[in-house]
Amino acid sequence: METQQSKTKGEELAEAIMARCFHPSLIGPEAWEGYVFSDMEIRIKESTDLYGAVLWPSAMVLCHFLETNRDQHNLTDKNVIELGAGTGLVSIVSSLLGAKVTSTDLPDLLGNLQYNVTRNTKGRCKYIPLVTELTWGQGVEQRFPRATHRFDYILAADVVYAHPYLEELMDTFDHLCQENTQILWAMRFRLDRENSFVERFRRRFHLEELYDLPSLSIKLYRAWRRDKMTEDRGGAAA
Ligand SMILES: C[S@@+](CC[C@H](N)C(=O)[O-])C[C@H]1O[C@@H](n2cnc3c(N)ncnc32)[C@H](O)[C@@H]1O
Repeated sequence: METQQSKTKGEELAEAIMARCFHPSLIGPEAWEGYVFSDMEIRIKESTDLYGAVLWPSAMVLCHFLETNRDQHNLTDKNVIELGAGTGLVSIVSSLLGAKVTSTDLPDLLGNLQYNVTRNTKGRCKYIPLVTELTWGQGVEQRFPRATHRFDYILAADVVYAHPYLEELMDTFDHLCQENTQILWAMRFRLDRENSFVERFRRRFHLEELYDLPSLSIKLYRAWRRDKMTEDRGGAAA
């Protein structure tokens, strides 16, 4: 009888994703965590006094997917918006992969987010990423009118947890997601409330599970609008 169970595919993938992180070998005047994506070293400054200014594993999961699925999801010249960008890793990797990125979060987070984005994309990317406020459900049509703001991708990592703005978040996805938009959303499961969000999300959007990583309690989803046009065509355009 085998004493040690062999690792599942999900465990191996989770380990490969977490191995993208490294720590500085010398302690310098500024604390940072290192990540390697798209053959580039990315340095992220966190701020422990702000919830969103910490980097969460979901962000690494989404970055790994983007980097390793460039054939199906080629971000070059694509319009991409990230919701709840936090420290900015997903926005940075998307920019390095050639996207025109709008990186968004709450006003208090924007200073650290802008710092990380500039530090890691300056002189390395085709398009300079835009860092700007997007508070879910607040003035979204004024800031991002549907007629002029069409996104190919909406990216989100670990934006669903015990906060009071889940309906506003749902409405924001709904507003930004147009006929040909694809949502790539890394979801960390912590409580039942999160399961119910996924169920409600499923009523508005088609949902495809791309990764299931039980050792991290994370799933990665692709989603697109549930409406007549996309139903007829059998899904969003890749
Ligand atoms: C758990 S953190 C995830 C951060 C980053 N995506 C990551 O995975 O490292 C959740 C993010 O959602 C943002 N957030 C929370 N409530 C928000 C709201 N009402 N409007 C916009 N962003 C919000 C937080 O500021 C934070 O950056």
